[in-house]
Amino acid sequence: MSVKHHLLLSTALLMTTLTYVGFRPALAADAPAATTAPVTGPWQDAAQSPEARTAALLKVMTREEKLQLVFGYFSTDFKPKAYTRIEGGMADSAGYIPGVARLGIPAQSQTDAGVGVATQASPTPRLRTALPSGLATAATWNPEMAFAGGAMIGDEARRSGFNVQLAGGTNLMREPRNGRNFEYGGEDPLLAGTIVGHAIKGIQSNNIISTLKHYAFNDQETSRNFIDVKVDEAAGRQSDLLAFEIALETGKPGSVMCSYNRVNGAYACENDWLLNQVLKKDWGFKGFVMSDWGATHSTAPAANAGLDQQSGYPFDKSPYFKDALDEAVNNGHVSAARLDDMAGRVLHAMFANGLFEHPLNGDQAATIDYAAHAKVTQADAEEAIVLLKNKGDVLPLAKTVKTIAIIGGHADVGVLSGGGSAQVYPYGAPTNGLIVPNEGPASFPGPMVYDPSSPLKALEGLTQAKITYIDGKDPKAAAKLAAGSDVAIVFATQWTGEGQDTIDLNLPNDQDALIKAVAGANKKTVVVLENGGPVVMPWLDQVAGVVDAWYPGTSGGEAIARVLAGEVTPSGHLPVSFPASVDQLPRKVVDGDRKDKAEHPHVDYTIDGAAIGYKWYEKKGLKPLFPFGYGLSYTTFATSDLAAAPEGKGLKVSLALRNTGARDGKAVAQVYVAPAAGGWEAPKRLGAFHKVALKAGESQNVSLTVDPRLLATYDVATHAWKIKGGDYKVMTGTSYQDITSTVTVHLPDATLPAAVQ
Ligand code: BGC
Repeated sequence: MSVKHHLLLSTALLMTTLTYVGFRPALAADAPAATTAPVTGPWQDAAQSPEARTAALLKVMTREEKLQLVFGYFSTDFKPKAYTRIEGGMADSAGYIPGVARLGIPAQSQTDAGVGVATQASPTPRLRTALPSGLATAATWNPEMAFAGGAMIGDEARRSGFNVQLAGGTNLMREPRNGRNFEYGGEDPLLAGTIVGHAIKGIQSNNIISTLKHYAFNDQETSRNFIDVKVDEAAGRQSDLLAFEIALETGKPGSVMCSYNRVNGAYACENDWLLNQVLKKDWGFKGFVMSDWGATHSTAPAANAGLDQQSGYPFDKSPYFKDALDEAVNNGHVSAARLDDMAGRVLHAMFANGLFEHPLNGDQAATIDYAAHAKVTQADAEEAIVLLKNKGDVLPLAKTVKTIAIIGGHADVGVLSGGGSAQVYPYGAPTNGLIVPNEGPASFPGPMVYDPSSPLKALEGLTQAKITYIDGKDPKAAAKLAAGSDVAIVFATQWTGEGQDTIDLNLPNDQDALIKAVAGANKKTVVVLENGGPVVMPWLDQVAGVVDAWYPGTSGGEAIARVLAGEVTPSGHLPVSFPASVDQLPRKVVDGDRKDKAEHPHVDYTIDGAAIGYKWYEKKGLKPLFPFGYGLSYTTFATSDLAAAPEGKGLKVSLALRNTGARDGKAVAQVYVAPAAGGWEAPKRLGAFHKVALKAGESQNVSLTVDPRLLATYDVATHAWKIKGGDYKVMTGTSYQDITSTVTVHLPDATLPAAVQ
């Protein structure tokens, strides 16, 4: 019997056995809103708190109805499991959970992910606006930009028929080869947590739920479904978990998605420490925990450890949170109170985010304002671009440049995006979503998708120079073209995707050789990178310019061209350090044998602990290729008047920023903190940051606050953050390495109160 037939039969039986407690949920009960009589009940009163509404609703719900809320279905036909999409769900989307029409409980309609409305593999994907990658948005160092981007993609999600967006990727970049780094916010807990938190807030401003994911320590893809992460509690609280904690406080996501991996032995989705203790007890999370697709491994252990909703049936081995959960409640292995808590948390997230008051209305994609959304994604891409090298002011392109060679990267038609479940098929592409067919793997995490925003065409509109394109497959031909051009611009691409890590950090497909050949032929060679994460640059000394554009989204070509032409002054800063080689990393190869399917490969995060990224390099006395925080501009900035004083248990910092160049631009105040006596996981931490727009010659005073947790260490014995009394250095600079001024403040011993949302 097919899954679908089984479900239909279940529904028919339910009609005659309404009081049979052990029966599976009524899947067809979610009649379309238009034909449903208005449902009244105290839970419909929006003036009441989410807690009061949840309590009122739980009182009138049957066991079946509660069970229905905690079991999610994949909403895409899935041949390997002979599964046909559940009725009611949007085609080729991540998930669907039927609502309960008799009580007016809306269905949950789920879409990936953080850069826009995604589509699972489909010959006719939905075409939507894509933001630059999450890492790119982190490179803006601009929380307002993250909010605006979130608000835009949340609007597209709602109009596309979704009220749950599986966004909020906050895994720290512990592993530069992680294939999903492009979905996340970089290597620093404050920067990543703040940026992703604002993106979540933007998404939820559309009266939909966003997730925060993948909780936690899912920092590599190799063996992700079973790898065991070994991590010390204090180190975890000060790194990956702090990023999640900050994102949670900032964005207040309705849901947290637990990850595939194990953490200290227990799967993340049945990990009492992560879910019950840290997330729900210590951080006061009131929403629900949903599993990643295929990350649930049990019924009672998972439910009792804090998992509230199983996702994406049939990805898991069993429908653990369906009949088996019913049975577990009947026999007392899961308490009835816990089932109420599970369903209640789902309802709380719905109430808190206005899902009852703002019902979906099916597919309204025709009403999306793509022109306005293009401006949002372009602004993000423009601020995200990091100018890494600019020898002899090769950029912006001078008016005297008469001929430009553009080489490789399909720059004649578009810009690259990252692969996997987060894949947004771009608005403006043909119906199959592909402007460059047959690139990358044919199946997940492929195909390789280019966004139809050509840097070449955009540049043509901004310069009088003659532009000639060559695809770069033949380095000799590319060098010849470069030799006869005033400037050569090589578009170098690094495609990464979910489910796989890169072997090394070199650009794939011999692009290093291409760049060397071109640079050998023309001193004015500029490399534009479209990359998922850090790459090494064996050609760095030979080129004049390097521009990091990340995956820049559906208006990325325009953004790149405007930076090259000088219409935009670059203001992005690295949210991750670029190592000089893999030898500088805590792990020379990615742990977890790629072929080993044995149950217990592990990765040892006790090696690096909380010293991630720049903290690791500094602690070990290593000099990365480019440091965290780094980014050049076409103008120059000076910092002065740095001052710091205790405020509450944290610090108040002030400084003046001045644009000392001839162009308008944006500067980022970066404040680093360190105990004068040492004793942290690393010599210093980012303590605060703030981006300001400054006209040429303009000055501005900036005030910043350092969160006390960034001055503290986590004490496992007393279960609290503690600041050690003593002198603390407060520094500002243009990266963690390039410190321009330092002041010292004295802080007393302090214990911080537990954070509650
Ligand atoms: C990914 C999640 C995603 C889910 C649903 C999983 O493979 O890890 O990030 O939200 O699929 O598509």
